[in-house]
Amino acid sequence: MLILNEKATGYPLACMEGSIISASRTAASAAAAADWLSRGRGRPRRIGFFGVGLIARYIHTFLNAADWSFDEIGVFDLSGESAEGYKGYLERSGTRARVTVHDGPEQLIRNSDLIVFATVAGQPHVHDTTWFDHNPLVLHVSLRDLAPEILLASTNILDDVDHCLKAGTSAHLVEQMVGHRNFVDGTLADVMEGRVPLADDRPIVFSPFGLGVLDLAVGKYVYDELASTGQLRVVEDFFSELRRYG
Ligand SMILES: NC(=O)c1ccc[n+]([C@@H]2O[C@H](COP(=O)([O-])OP(=O)(O)OC[C@H]3O[C@@H](n4cnc5c(N)ncnc54)[C@H](O)[C@@H]3O)[C@@H](O)[C@H]2O)c1
Repeated sequence: MLILNEKATGYPLACMEGSIISASRTAASAAAAADWLSRGRGRPRRIGFFGVGLIARYIHTFLNAADWSFDEIGVFDLSGESAEGYKGYLERSGTRARVTVHDGPEQLIRNSDLIVFATVAGQPHVHDTTWFDHNPLVLHVSLRDLAPEILLASTNILDDVDHCLKAGTSAHLVEQMVGHRNFVDGTLADVMEGRVPLADDRPIVFSPFGLGVLDLAVGKYVYDELASTGQLRVVEDFFSELRRYG
């Protein structure tokens, strides 16, 4: 649920279904990061989706809409049903890529130059740094899949440093382990403004905590679209008491 409030008065302005707004901003932010972080290396032609639920579907849809195309799409999920469901979605999307459902995580990672983690894992389950020897670009959207040693061997780009270094994310585990934040190379904004050069001899891991301000921006956009096309569903008399002293 997303509630928009009137800035001047603080009164609630709109109550909106929030899951699709949140998935959209997450996917848009991931697609923007993929674009900016691959500019020095060229757009990857082999993408791997690790954990394929709603967010993975939205990320593929948004990459597609931003004119990304792939020769190969790899899929891995602990649930065979999810993997098959995602494969079906990819086929219906009209992709020309060869789609492979992998039996294990290693094959998926080794065969992908852009890897999207969108699992619901609560703690790291990918530990082997050699799986990343080909220096892929990793969108670590689910934040808790990668062991600290993998982040320590990578260029680390976050959306917001304070947000990301909490709540048991992989980046938070690294900070607790090494006792400093020097492993953080910068934010996506730093990359976009040219403040952080990106080496191509190590993996790049993008860890987005997800910014509430992006939900607000997308929610306001949806509100304005509906308002301008006369589709708002107004609840008359929602506020029954508007005078402080009656
Ligand atoms: N960073 C952000 O801004 C942001 C925003 C929204 C959601 N998320 C995160 O994205 C993740 C995915 O969300 P969703 O709504 O798509 O969830 P979902 O439940 O729809 O899909 C998750 C999928 O991951 C699979 N999975 C779980 N553990 C796995 C593992 N260890 N290995 C492989 N597959 C595994 C599940 O079987 C399932 O198919 C969640 O962790 C969520 O918190 C992040």
